[in-house]
Amino acid sequence: MSNTLQAIRGMNDILPDEAERWLAFEATVQQWLARYGYRNIRMPLVEQTALFRRAIGEVTDIVEKEMYSWKDELNAEELTLRPEGTASCVRAAIEHSLVYDGPKHLWYAGPMYRHERPQKGRYRQFHQYGVEALGFAGPDVDAELIVMCAALWKELGLTGIRLELNTIGSSEERARFREQLIKYLEGKVESLDADGKRRMYTNPLRVLDSKNPAVQDALRDAPSLMEHLGEDSLRHFDAVKSLLGAAGVEYTLNPRLVRGLDYYNLTVFEWISDALGAQGTVCGGGRYDGLFAQIGGKPTPAAGFAMGCERLIALVQESRRATNVAGPAAYIVWQGEGTGAYALTLAEELRAQGLAVVQHAGSGSFKSQMKKADASGAQCALIVGEDELKSGEVTYKPMRRAEEQRRVPRAGLAALLRQP
Ligand code: HAM
Repeated sequence: MSNTLQAIRGMNDILPDEAERWLAFEATVQQWLARYGYRNIRMPLVEQTALFRRAIGEVTDIVEKEMYSWKDELNAEELTLRPEGTASCVRAAIEHSLVYDGPKHLWYAGPMYRHERPQKGRYRQFHQYGVEALGFAGPDVDAELIVMCAALWKELGLTGIRLELNTIGSSEERARFREQLIKYLEGKVESLDADGKRRMYTNPLRVLDSKNPAVQDALRDAPSLMEHLGEDSLRHFDAVKSLLGAAGVEYTLNPRLVRGLDYYNLTVFEWISDALGAQGTVCGGGRYDGLFAQIGGKPTPAAGFAMGCERLIALVQESRRATNVAGPAAYIVWQGEGTGAYALTLAEELRAQGLAVVQHAGSGSFKSQMKKADASGAQCALIVGEDELKSGEVTYKPMRRAEEQRRVPRAGLAALLRQP
């Protein structure tokens, strides 16, 4: 048996090439969040299990099958690695009275944990950027959340991400719909899978969310929640749709869209790409006006969404635009008596002027240093030998365009490297 230890399945190392893409992605996302007036909040990775049970719902995939939970023997506490951020964010807002003096725009980022079957785009540790508008009741906020997503996709150079939109009304409206849906499901019980049969009475709306094609087939003529909605819910939804229309954001109405978590009401939405295979949902969210009260706070309207970093970064990479990180401005190749100090001070001088410079580390033949310069993606090699040292010059060799190498004075180098 091999003795080598490996990372846990579904929990990935992010190696330097990829990590640079993550940094570029995160810089774009954080600037975008600041433009919309959102402020950062950081919550612990571990919470009491009861928080997620109450917030996400007992009869959901996440709570039933996917949480990393354990009993902390020392304190006799039931704990869970967070599977998502909304519950913690609302818990923190209640605990620290964050909305006592008015609504708040908050964002958080970091790893989330779900014990799912790993596959491309689906991991057990994955990362989200979560965006929560706490204390806002109007449809204008729902629309703004959606419009801001559209703006981010554009900024990231992503096309082909489509928006699916639905309203699931209020909990009273859903309760009335529930009776009818159960009756319908009773007539289709033969076609339901084990999950469907089990959830038919405990949480029939979850059955609508089934990913099983056979179950979806059986639901073809299921009653529609939309027909059970009252005037207020419909008016809210109409306002969201008309604002999206005004902003030029296209959407598809999907009456089956209920989302995988139970805290939602009214507007729900998902952004989906077909370029990622089965795991195409890059972002999902909606309104959750009941959640504050559900976990012990004062009733407070709220809405938000979270996006999956792994999926979005894969899309950015695939579209070969935007955040493809360029190599450094220069790679310094040096060889000969006294050239080490010359190279070191040259590199520092250029870095002090804001240029990214990699100095060859250790020795190595001229040829092998040039190979490394090429592999680094640098725009040019700066070659320092004993001749250059004597004359106070550098040999400048462009690596990415057909231009001859030439000797240049050390003094004007920064300006030369900045030339497009
Ligand atoms: P969610 O739909 O469960 O919503 O997750 C949001 C996004 O996280 C998904 O659209 C997907 O991109 C990504 N994601 C989820 N699970 C995985 C996984 N196993 N591997 C890779 N990516 C994944 C929420 O978590 C809600 N808290 C969103 C929200 C915020 N609603 C209101 N505010």
